[in-house]
Amino acid sequence: MVRILITGAAGGLGSLLRDRMKGEQVTLRLSDVAELGEAGENEELVQCDLGDMSAVLKLVKDCDFIIHLGGIAKENSFEKILNGNIVGTYNIYEAARRAGVKRIFFASSNHAMGAYEVGEIVDTEMPFRPDSFYGVSKCFGEVLARYYYDKYGIESACVRIGSCFEPPTEKRMLATWLSFDDLVSLVKRVQEIEHLGFQTIFAVSDNAKNWWDNSLAEGLGWQPKDSVDKYTDDPSLIEEETEIAARLHGGVYNADGHFDDNNSGSRTV
Ligand SMILES: NC(=O)c1ccc[n+]([C@@H]2O[C@H](COP(=O)([O-])OP(=O)(O)OC[C@H]3O[C@@H](n4cnc5c(N)ncnc54)[C@H](O)[C@@H]3O)[C@@H](O)[C@H]2O)c1
Repeated sequence: MVRILITGAAGGLGSLLRDRMKGEQVTLRLSDVAELGEAGENEELVQCDLGDMSAVLKLVKDCDFIIHLGGIAKENSFEKILNGNIVGTYNIYEAARRAGVKRIFFASSNHAMGAYEVGEIVDTEMPFRPDSFYGVSKCFGEVLARYYYDKYGIESACVRIGSCFEPPTEKRMLATWLSFDDLVSLVKRVQEIEHLGFQTIFAVSDNAKNWWDNSLAEGLGWQPKDSVDKYTDDPSLIEEETEIAARLHGGVYNADGHFDDNNSGSRTV
């Protein structure tokens, strides 16, 4: 049996992976600060705050692979981002080191690079240009992952997820969209590849419009199969409303003060 920990398991992508990563030879340890419902077959449920180190130490014990999705998934106040994304990600890596966990899928974000101009092709070795505190927290997570690989040999994939929603809702997603199936195949590739090492990759489907260059991540051997192109003429796709949002990769995240503390102001992830 392999035990896989999924953090953020009550969220959108966590719920998807809860369903798609199950298998006869797999125990899923599912964790979130939110309610996780009833445990299914081969499921272990742990409700905890990732900011609580003593809880995270217990959470990570006896796991073989961690899919780290938990945290604040949009722009928010620095204090909330600090607990969920910065302290929380540190707790996961440090607990993994102490428990001997060897591999982590880290859900980073395109917003780590969201201040680049539309029209510029960004590769996986270009400097961080976050567009928000949220983006800054993902840069922190990627650097932390590098540190834990170089110093302790914990393998990581820092996966800069584009926009993983079905169907797409915004024009921007014609460049950033990732299908659910492509996300699942990437998670499985990260789990199964014999030598992962340290990898950074933009998780995006095979869309005709493309802002990102994954050629430096070819060693991972992952190819997206889907494309957003069938939605190109969909009239329901929302346009960016401001000049700055249209000009920069991260869209509205680049606008000053685009969120409120309830998070109702931000539309994209
Ligand atoms: N969905 C996307 O398109 C997308 C794009 C880029 C990056 N990501 C990243 O992927 C991950 C999953 O995204 P999602 O769309 O499923 O987001 P989501 O908000 O639906 O899920 C995140 C989950 O994390 C939990 N969480 C928040 N703070 C926590 C804490 N302190 N302790 C424990 N749990 C906590 C939330 O309760 C929630 O269930 C996130 O890390 C997000 O930043 C997603």
